[in-house]
Amino acid sequence: MPNKAYNWPELEEMLFMRTIKRQPVTLVRGLGARVWDDEGREYLDFMGGWAVNSLGHCHPAVVKAITKQVQTLIHTSNQFYTVPQIKLAQVLVEHSCLDRVFFCNSGAEANEGAMKLARRYGKLYLDGAYEIVTTRNSFHGRTLAMVAATGQNKFQEPYIPLPNGFINVDYDNVEAIKAAISPKTCAVMLEPVQGEGGVNVPSNNYLKEIKTCCDKKGVLLILDEVQTGIGRMGSLFAYEKYGVEPDIMTLAKGLGSGVPIGAFMAKEQFAVFTVGDHGSTFGGSPLICSASLAALEFIIKHNIPDQVKRVGKYFKNRLEKLKQQFDFISEIRGDGLLLALGFTNDISQEILQSCLREGLLINSVKPDAIRFTPPLIIDENDVDKALHILESVFTRR
Ligand SMILES: Cc1ncc(COP(=O)(O)O)c(C=O)c1O
Repeated sequence: MPNKAYNWPELEEMLFMRTIKRQPVTLVRGLGARVWDDEGREYLDFMGGWAVNSLGHCHPAVVKAITKQVQTLIHTSNQFYTVPQIKLAQVLVEHSCLDRVFFCNSGAEANEGAMKLARRYGKLYLDGAYEIVTTRNSFHGRTLAMVAATGQNKFQEPYIPLPNGFINVDYDNVEAIKAAISPKTCAVMLEPVQGEGGVNVPSNNYLKEIKTCCDKKGVLLILDEVQTGIGRMGSLFAYEKYGVEPDIMTLAKGLGSGVPIGAFMAKEQFAVFTVGDHGSTFGGSPLICSASLAALEFIIKHNIPDQVKRVGKYFKNRLEKLKQQFDFISEIRGDGLLLALGFTNDISQEILQSCLREGLLINSVKPDAIRFTPPLIIDENDVDKALHILESVFTRR
């Protein structure tokens, strides 16, 4: 239903700090893999709220759970037991290799918590080791410590001096990690596939070799599955795909299918927090956890990761064919429904604008690459429609 009461962009311009360049569209409604703007125009959403809307927009299971919970109990402090967070923890533990969970509100917060846990472990069992090795081109969030962990100069430079204790080395380079680990190291933290860094997939054995190296040196492996987790790569967690079990894992984005939630999980022997070591006012609230529980149960019950595998393969094949048609496409990266098209030059903004005009939402993840993170529930017809738009945009260049 059109809802153009104000010039929203003009109002936004007056009110907000200038941290983001928005696209010239005001979205007012969503359903499944589609959204509508305030003029009633429909868009196919292959961005999924930056990989958040795992079940698409307003999925009935999520809407039902939120509606019921909002009329029952929205928030209490964590001083008390509440049922939805315990049920959600139970499902996460039952379906992963990790034993304990802590709920928070975002990916950055999940990573902060995971790193605090690793430092705590370092203090207790590794002679005070506190350094954490991360990789260049990674993305772990926007808090000061996560900016230090994120190995990208553009995020770090404006805030120097940064918190210390973080070492950024090359991704997909086992020797670089080995060389960076010292007696001061408590953990290595990696994304199984770098998302914001451009959808960079490591060599087949990379994660396995890193895990072996961490085990040998007695340091923890933290996998940041904020973007890759909850079915996005065709398995519930990306670590399953690579045959590696993390000691600590972080989640957010798709875990809530649209509601703000983060979590970090650890194996029993590394879950060394005791009372008072960490906390959160909003983390694990009944409202958010009931929505997340409904989403996660649906994803597991309907084997959405398998669907992601099938549709992702179809999507990737179609992109490969597109690559054969247009010589400015240099490569296809990613797996499942975390895919990117690399270009020979910096045209991603131009492509994004053209797609937007044609009714397709995509993300410009690098000046020379666009990224697709659609809802996990898309099917082959949605892929065909997106490919049709991409093809016509590419043909008209
Ligand atoms: C791998 C990864 N970790 C952490 C984050 C930060 O998450 P949030 O924006 O919820 O703090 C992101 C966000 O894009 C991410 O992709």
